[in-house]
Amino acid sequence: MHNHSDGKIQKLISLCKRRGIIFQSSEIYGGAAAAYDYGPLGVEIKNIIKKLWWKEMVYDNDNIVGLDSAILMHPKVWEASGHVENFEDILVECKECHRRFKKDDLKEGKCPECGGVLTEPKKFNPMFETNLGPVRDSASKVYLRPETAQGIYVNFNTVQKSMRRKIPFGIAQIGKAFRNEITPGNFIFRTVEFEQAEQQFFIKPEEDEKWFEYWKEKRMNWHLSLGIKKENLRFKKHEKLAHYAKAGADIEYNFPMRWDEIEGIHNRGDWDLSRHSKFSGNDLSYFNDETKQKFLPFIIETSMGIDRTMLAVLLDAFEEMETRSGKDDTKHEMETVLRLHPKIAPVKAAVFPLVKNKPEIVKKAREIYENLKKYWFVQYDETGAIGRRYRRQDEIGTPFCVTVDFDTLENETVTVRHRDTMEQERIKIAEIEEFLRGKLA
Ligand code: GAP
Repeated sequence: MHNHSDGKIQKLISLCKRRGIIFQSSEIYGGAAAAYDYGPLGVEIKNIIKKLWWKEMVYDNDNIVGLDSAILMHPKVWEASGHVENFEDILVECKECHRRFKKDDLKEGKCPECGGVLTEPKKFNPMFETNLGPVRDSASKVYLRPETAQGIYVNFNTVQKSMRRKIPFGIAQIGKAFRNEITPGNFIFRTVEFEQAEQQFFIKPEEDEKWFEYWKEKRMNWHLSLGIKKENLRFKKHEKLAHYAKAGADIEYNFPMRWDEIEGIHNRGDWDLSRHSKFSGNDLSYFNDETKQKFLPFIIETSMGIDRTMLAVLLDAFEEMETRSGKDDTKHEMETVLRLHPKIAPVKAAVFPLVKNKPEIVKKAREIYENLKKYWFVQYDETGAIGRRYRRQDEIGTPFCVTVDFDTLENETVTVRHRDTMEQERIKIAEIEEFLRGKLA
């Protein structure tokens, strides 16, 4: 039983599987719960989102630098960060079916699955534990990082000095994070292994409000630049603050199940640097050359989930259309179109020979394909009716299809078909590259 909103996610899941975008992990073994693999087209979209974020953060800002820190860190990091002590869920377990639930999610004292009696609430820390080295004891215990942020804080001094940065400046990184979520779900919305794109901006304490507002706006504009519709994005102020935060706001997307977070912007104060100074015994304060004063910078963090942003992008682009064909338009079919922004589309253009039994046409189409391939990820397709081929590209969001036909052999022109308007225009072969460059910019 699915309501309308579940329906959209279900349809997207099946499209993602059918078209090589996202698959359940280890599916041939029945699937690994709450983990997903990105297929040949999914990895393209994901990489594009990551690249756009990196460009916005690192290349477009003179005062932000990149980092790629290790997933496994010294276990004391997570004591200092507060995760060992404060990063926890309060769980109850059903005495009948043994399912576990977050206490906060439950409205009644009975199991929502089977109506059974629940246990008393217990603390549960979602950090994954493992052991480093050959001995499995408490001394060798390490954690899979639940956020990438801590790798930035512990490197604050080293990065600042080696790159000779002055405050305000930022450090950005993209990487995997892990949380043993009790209630994973909604496809790639909440998983146990996911990717974060986090940026930590180090500032003077008295400028925290200004920078907090600055980053909120910058980040919202970036999500809009991906082509997500404005009416499907909003801010939500945090009422309940995380253990490290002085203020926080989420950027929320209007998911089919509810409005929910895709990115958090937090004013973390000097929590992280003061804790790491204390726990490591290394003073992480910053020395201001001009005033000759030492102080602990405040941090404004922007923390985005790559997977969640990708889910928002896909849902926002997903559309179903009824098409008619056959004699007197009597055949009705549902067609799926991903109206992705051309810069997000995994395949930028597809090249078709109108027919495959005419060698001159095939040769021309292959030539065009080979040339475009030098610059973009493009596809060549000669199988099936031309309408089918358009539809296959619509489903994966390809913005342009280039068809070589009989006229091409006469006048060196092709038809370019636009995904969103389905309009076709004729352009010269020599101008295709320029045309695409303009559209994809
Ligand atoms: N460093 C701060 C931090 O980690 P968070 O709000 O816990 O803050 C930031 O996480 C972002 O990471 C979220 O907005 C979300 O997009 C993503 N995220 C968190 N948990 C996730 C999960 N279990 N699955 C997928 N994405 C997740």
